[in-house]
Amino acid sequence: MEGEVLSMRIRLMQRDDLEFAMDLTSAEGWMSTMLDFEEILLHDPQGSFVGEVNGQDVGMVCTVPYDSFGFIGNLIVLPEWRGRQYGEALMVHAMQYLRGLGVKTHMLDGVEMAIPLYERLGFEKIAKSLRLEGRLVGEKMDGIRPIMHRDLKSLTEFDSLCFGCSRCVFLETRLESFPELCMLAEDEGRILGYIMGSRSGDITRIGPWVVGEGNETAEKLLSSFGEAAEGSLLRIGVLETSVTARDLLRREDFREISFSWRMSTDPAQEWSCSTHLFAICSPARG
Ligand SMILES: CC(C)(COP(=O)(O)OP(=O)(O)OC[C@H]1O[C@@H](n2cnc3c(N)ncnc32)[C@H](O)[C@@H]1OP(=O)(O)O)[C@@H](O)C(=O)NCCC(=O)NCCS
Repeated sequence: MEGEVLSMRIRLMQRDDLEFAMDLTSAEGWMSTMLDFEEILLHDPQGSFVGEVNGQDVGMVCTVPYDSFGFIGNLIVLPEWRGRQYGEALMVHAMQYLRGLGVKTHMLDGVEMAIPLYERLGFEKIAKSLRLEGRLVGEKMDGIRPIMHRDLKSLTEFDSLCFGCSRCVFLETRLESFPELCMLAEDEGRILGYIMGSRSGDITRIGPWVVGEGNETAEKLLSSFGEAAEGSLLRIGVLETSVTARDLLRREDFREISFSWRMSTDPAQEWSCSTHLFAICSPARG
C-alpha cells in the first residue's frame, strides 16, 4: 500500500552477506574492500547487522566495540528504501548493541548529509575528519624497519596508549595482509611510532599512523611508506586536530578531497582523538 512503512527485521551480518555489503559501498563510491568487512567481523562477529524488509536485504550497519568506546560505521540503506526511518532503526540497533556490551561512548565519522540523523540520536560533532590524497617519492630511512609478528604485543601497548583502547585485531590483520606497508620507528628497542597501510584497487591507503614524539619520526615513517608504496596514489584520513600530520602532508602536496565529521555521544571524552594519531585506521574503526 502506498505510504505504508513496512517493518524492517534486523539480523546479524554473516560472511555470506559481504557481497551485499560490497554492493552497497561500491554504489556509494566508497573504497571499502571485502577484507575491511572480514576484519570487522573478525573483531566482533556479533556486531554487524543487515536490515531486511519482506525478506529483501535493504541496508546495513557495523559496530566496532573497543572497551570504553566503540565506533559505528558502514550505515547504508538502498536508495529506493530511504526516508522511511530504516537508517535510524539500524543506528538505534547498533547503539543498543554497543550499550549492551557496556560501551559508554559511541563514535562515528559522519557525512554532512547524515548529520541531522546522528544529532537526533545524541551525537555531537568533535572535529572534521579529513580525507587527503597525494603521491610520495619516499626513500628507506635509518631507524625505520619492517614490523614483525613478534612486535605485535609491544606495538599494541604503544598504540593503546595513544588510541585509548586495544586495536590488536586490526593491527594483526593489517600486518598479515600488507606486511610490506607496515613499518616501525624505534630507538634502542623503544617504539617511537609506526605506520601501516592497505590497498584498495590501485589506491594505497595510509593508516593507522601513530607517532609518540618528534616530527622527525613522523617524516621518516612517511618517507619509508612512500618508498614501499612505489609511487601509487595514496589516500589518508586525518582529524583536523592532528595539526602536525596535516602540515607534513601539506608540505608533500597532499590535497583535501572530502571530509566527514568525527562525532561522539560524549565529546568530553577524548577517545581516539589524541594528536599522536596522525592517520585514522578507517572511518568505521576510528
Ligand atoms: C544515511 C542513510 C543510511 C539514511 O537512511 P534512511 O533510511 O533514509 O534514514 P532515515 O529515514 O532514518 O533518516 C533520514 C535521515 O538520513 C539523512 N540523509 C538523508 N539523505 C541522505 C543522504 N543522501 N546521504 C546521507 N544521509 C542522508 C538525513 O540526516 C535524514 O534526516 P532528516 O530527514 O532529518 O534530514 C541513507 O541516506 C544512506 O544510505 N545514505 C548513503 C550512505 C551514507 O551517506 N551513509 C552515512 C555515512 S556517515
